[in-house]
Amino acid sequence: MERLERDVVIVGAGVTGLTAAVTLREAGCSVIVLEARDRVGGRVWTDHVDGQLYEIGGQWVSPDQTALLEVLDDLGLDTYERYRDGESVYIGADGVAKRFTGGVVPTNPHTEAEIERLIVLLDQLVAETDPAAPWEHPNADELDRISFSAWLRQQSDDAEARENIALFIADAMLTKPAHSFSALQALLMAASAGSFSHLVDADFILDRRVVGGLQRVPLALAATLDPVDLRLGQPVRGIRWSSAALPVEAVPADAEPADAEPARAEPAESVEVSTDDLVVTAKRVIVAVPPNLYNRIDYAPALPRLRQQLSQHQSLGLVIKVHATYDTPFWREEGLSGTAFSPYRVVHEAYDNSNIGETRGTLVGFVSDEKADALLALPAAERRHRILESLAAYYGPKALEPVVYFESDWAAEEWTQGAYAASFDLGGLTRYGALQLEPVGPLRFGSSDLAAEGYQHVDGAIRVGRRLAAETIESIESLGA
Ligand code: FDA
Repeated sequence: MERLERDVVIVGAGVTGLTAAVTLREAGCSVIVLEARDRVGGRVWTDHVDGQLYEIGGQWVSPDQTALLEVLDDLGLDTYERYRDGESVYIGADGVAKRFTGGVVPTNPHTEAEIERLIVLLDQLVAETDPAAPWEHPNADELDRISFSAWLRQQSDDAEARENIALFIADAMLTKPAHSFSALQALLMAASAGSFSHLVDADFILDRRVVGGLQRVPLALAATLDPVDLRLGQPVRGIRWSSAALPVEAVPADAEPADAEPARAEPAESVEVSTDDLVVTAKRVIVAVPPNLYNRIDYAPALPRLRQQLSQHQSLGLVIKVHATYDTPFWREEGLSGTAFSPYRVVHEAYDNSNIGETRGTLVGFVSDEKADALLALPAAERRHRILESLAAYYGPKALEPVVYFESDWAAEEWTQGAYAASFDLGGLTRYGALQLEPVGPLRFGSSDLAAEGYQHVDGAIRVGRRLAAETIESIESLGA
């Protein structure tokens, strides 16, 4: 067993953990990053499948993601625009594929008017929502107790309008059914991107990609660390910690005074982090993993009771990201941009995802929540057939015969267990949201799942990583004061 000592241990080499590590190193702290997987990047992963480069996890960059844009600039990474020339396709409740341009999908005058009215209403509510504190919205309690689908039913009697509005938050972002999260959670999602209109506008939210893939960001951040300070294949199993000031809720109400202060005999604010091969003693720990994985680590003493509750109310959504590559981007020749939507098809949204400089054409499609449950229960060949049929409904029969095909299955990844990210169940945001970024003695927790701006996105991971690093530096400085 190797024994090491550092100022700060960072658990997880995703964008959050690496941003925190680099920031701490720049401030003169000694760090070590312990990563469970044999690669860095977490939910950002670029790989070759049958010779074709695919972005298996996160990939798009939007203009509001200023923290990410700043990092791309600092690292000298170039971006390119998603292909978007030509008409989009919408398949409505009537099952007919219709071509359109502009924002609102082509349905009938009543539904189109309802969609536009709901977008304006949501934009107004989002403008009143602080993504860093959605629980402070004047109607937060009410909005957090009603599911987004029930709230939409209160606002409109037009089912197709409701299905379309729900799609942009439920299928496309939280990747959970609209009946399983609150209207307040929906407002947070939109507020974190600046407005609900931004989520509806694919040309905004899915604007650009990084040449060579977004994983170049974590790879470049990792390259700035000393190799001895980044250990791959090291799942953290345990964290022993002690604190001079245990949070009040950590102490059982009926504890004797001696039990209430178990940390007093040990050095104040110390931590010991262990993997199967390593034990690292440090002043502080940053646990930069999604909240559904906090419980994979054994804490001694156990985390305070409210913290144990908190992470049980946050869960990851489920989405299958599908890539299909063809000899040519045939849809472009037919005047199509590759952008397609339908709340009624297995693949609810799809785009042209051809890599810059390639003559082949690639489509990317997404299958979310209950539709993903159903498809994942099928044999692989049947699932592929159903997904390609869904693409063919948008682009015609040529979509049935890709030369390369790949499904990202993040729910099967032990160190993620879902996609894209975590959100609260009904009532969870108002009950626990304010607690999630609070430290527990020398421990801090965070990931893109806890971000305000850039929530659930790489931009949010950078913001949270920076915040955790700044707070950690301040708290280490206070030890010497
Ligand atoms: P992340 O989960 O990436 O990192 C956590 C790390 O901790 C992982 O490397 C994990 O292995 C490690 N870990 C976990 N437990 C551990 C333990 N016990 N010990 C040691 N290590 C441990 N975003 C975006 O901006 N644009 C986009 O287009 C998309 N699209 C998208 C598609 C898909 C399919 C996915 C899955 C995700 C996206 N996202 C996205 C979301 C984006 O990828 C995500 O928000 C961030 O990459 C999360 O970064 P974090 O570092 O916060 O967590």
